[in-house]
Amino acid sequence: MARGKKIYEGKAKTLFEGPEPGTIIQYFKDDATAFNAVKKDTIDGKGALNNLLSEHIMVGLGNIGLPTHFIRRLNMREQLIHQVEIVPLEIIVRNVAAGSFSKMFNIEEGTPLPRPIVEFCLKDDDLGDPLVSEEHILAMNWASSHEIDDMREIALRVNDFLAGLMFGIGIKLVDFKIEVGRQYEEGMQRLILADEISPDSCRLWDMETNQKLDKDVFRRDLGSLTDAYSEVARRLGILPKNTAASGPKLVE
Ligand code: TMP
Ligand code: ASP
Repeated sequence: MARGKKIYEGKAKTLFEGPEPGTIIQYFKDDATAFNAVKKDTIDGKGALNNLLSEHIMVGLGNIGLPTHFIRRLNMREQLIHQVEIVPLEIIVRNVAAGSFSKMFNIEEGTPLPRPIVEFCLKDDDLGDPLVSEEHILAMNWASSHEIDDMREIALRVNDFLAGLMFGIGIKLVDFKIEVGRQYEEGMQRLILADEISPDSCRLWDMETNQKLDKDVFRRDLGSLTDAYSEVARRLGILPKNTAASGPKLVE
């Protein structure tokens, strides 16, 4: 499919104009970054794996009635999506203490939380994506009160779906991050799920061994990132069986 001009280049994805107005081509790069790009590498196969994994999850969410930006996957690297106006917030849901939550409250990683906790962070790398309150969001006009309610509802629906999906393949959903966007259609405005959902934006632990199958493998130098992501894809049945843990040779 003919690609239009580049609209935006992020750390893990690049966006190009799509073939029709209101559409965008989302290209998944092999770049991995952590700690706001202080740590960087290029990891062969990561982009293709995240493209497949995000497609699988977005299609599943669409099937249970949650509107997403996903239209269809175009090839191993690219998917066609609806254009949205991204809300400048990262919405995090936590089921188990880990990462910045464990650090902030000095709670051991792996401690189950009494209920899912929804957090909002400002999407601003220069500031290190700081945690923000509803008060901040409303006062600074990053989202309306109605949108905050919608973001919570979307985040918790994604949590239920994703936790169940992962449970089915022996994986514990520790936490994840989503982004949403405003879609304008026939004079109406609504929030839909945008960006990606992949092991880049989730913490996924093997249920039996607690082995990490997500970007913490890269952040904490725990081994091969593509092995970890391939394992998730293999368990979900979206990788051909003969391309398992030794690293997929995914063709462009
Ligand atoms: P945290 O514990 O570092 O705050 O991360 C919480 C979740 O959000 C974890 O699943 C990783 C994900 N995340 C992103 O997707 N992007 C980010 O920039 C950060 C900081 C976290
Ligand atoms: N996404 C952020 C970065 O690329 C932080 C992270 O995922 O750890 O630096």
